Amino acid sequence: MKDGLSLEQAVIKIAPRLDGSYAFLATSVDDPGKIIGTRRNNPLVIGIDDADYYASSDALAFATYTNQVISLEDNEVAALEAGSVEFLDAEGNKLAKQARTLDQSWAKSDKEGYQYFMLKEIMEQAQVLGRTLHQDAKAFTDIALDILRARQVIITACGSSRYAALVGRYLFSRVGKRFCDVVMASEFGYFADSVDKNTVVIAVSQSGETADVVEGVKAARDAGAQVISIINRPNSILADLSHQVIYLNCGPEIAVAATKSFLSQLAIFYLLSFSMVNGFDEAAAKLTELSTTITGVLDWNKSEMIRLSQELKGKHDFYYIARGINFAIASEGALKLKEISYIHAEGMPAGELKHGTLALIEPGTPVVVICPADYTFAETINNAMEAKARGAYMIAVSDRASDIYDSWIRIPEVDELLYPLVAVVPLHLLAYYAAISRGCDPDKPRNLAKSVTVK
Ligand code: G6P
Repeated sequence: MKDGLSLEQAVIKIAPRLDGSYAFLATSVDDPGKIIGTRRNNPLVIGIDDADYYASSDALAFATYTNQVISLEDNEVAALEAGSVEFLDAEGNKLAKQARTLDQSWAKSDKEGYQYFMLKEIMEQAQVLGRTLHQDAKAFTDIALDILRARQVIITACGSSRYAALVGRYLFSRVGKRFCDVVMASEFGYFADSVDKNTVVIAVSQSGETADVVEGVKAARDAGAQVISIINRPNSILADLSHQVIYLNCGPEIAVAATKSFLSQLAIFYLLSFSMVNGFDEAAAKLTELSTTITGVLDWNKSEMIRLSQELKGKHDFYYIARGINFAIASEGALKLKEISYIHAEGMPAGELKHGTLALIEPGTPVVVICPADYTFAETINNAMEAKARGAYMIAVSDRASDIYDSWIRIPEVDELLYPLVAVVPLHLLAYYAAISRGCDPDKPRNLAKSVTVK
């Protein structure tokens, strides 16, 4: 600006010299009354309401004021002034950009009487499942065929989305007889050498903006892979990068920790894996029946979760164990507890407990075992007994009674591949009440964001 450039010209000149990914807004006392924004690999959206303008990384931030949204592409610039907004390309040429209308359900983000969004989102899971199941059966079958035909299939995701992907991996193998790998998005780049045009990469991300996932997908595309994304939020960077997108349709998730989107991701993996054997309708019907069951699980367990969270609020370590398809639910339960109540928690395959972790079990250490009456029950309960013998306080998520349980989180008997959906619901509730009992805000956990747009 010392050379006489306007603020927007200065931003256009400086931005290409910046390393990494960013979205920023600039103001200057030397060119007052303007806000100039630009982005690279991170989201920046402009909201427009008559003569009021908003800028944010996420349209949800201004959705109560306006549903008219313009998304910036990489290197584009928005120049906001009182009463006007202008868009420029990286050379400073004017751009005509069209606003899109935000879906009504995304414009409303109300706690609807609940104390926290997280509780509201846990409680609405049964309805959400119904919305997620509204999918195009033909499109699912086509995607399933692509997955079956590929030389290799890699699923990439972070956090809870990765645990949903791990359940997906078991389903692909058991139902579709298709082995695939799940690679943590932050590690994906280190496997990029083996990705080629015969690879299908499935990216799972509620936000569609997680930087590690976006970067992995770009690398996969560059290597010629087919990219299929499973996303909740509309108009995300990931959607733009993908060849096919499956939407969760579970509405806005405001609490930082994923709950309803996790359940929806599981539902999508059921639909996909059953589509591999021409069973889309069968899976959709089974999941539809499950909606009422999920409401029942919440009703049955609410008071026990409140009691348990009070009793165990002083504990420092929790271990979550399970086998097979339920293993990822152990990891998800532990992650949720850790994320929002700041209690150390680890989830692991029950058979792995004896390789070191058992040494950490002391009298009173809480161990959560997910042991429904399915093909994993007998071996999982044996592992639970090993922990019990060291004095563990045994919390069991099961539909089958056992006298080794100190606390029994009851779930109904369902088809054996459906247990993850009913087992995770009370574990989300347990984490929620644990956070409340320790005076933590479950909607806004420390050091964590809803969309992790940094690497
Ligand atoms: C953060 C959130 C988690 C989420 C993860 C992945 O860690 O707090 O709830 O599971 O990011 O987010 P994504 O939007 O990619 O699913």
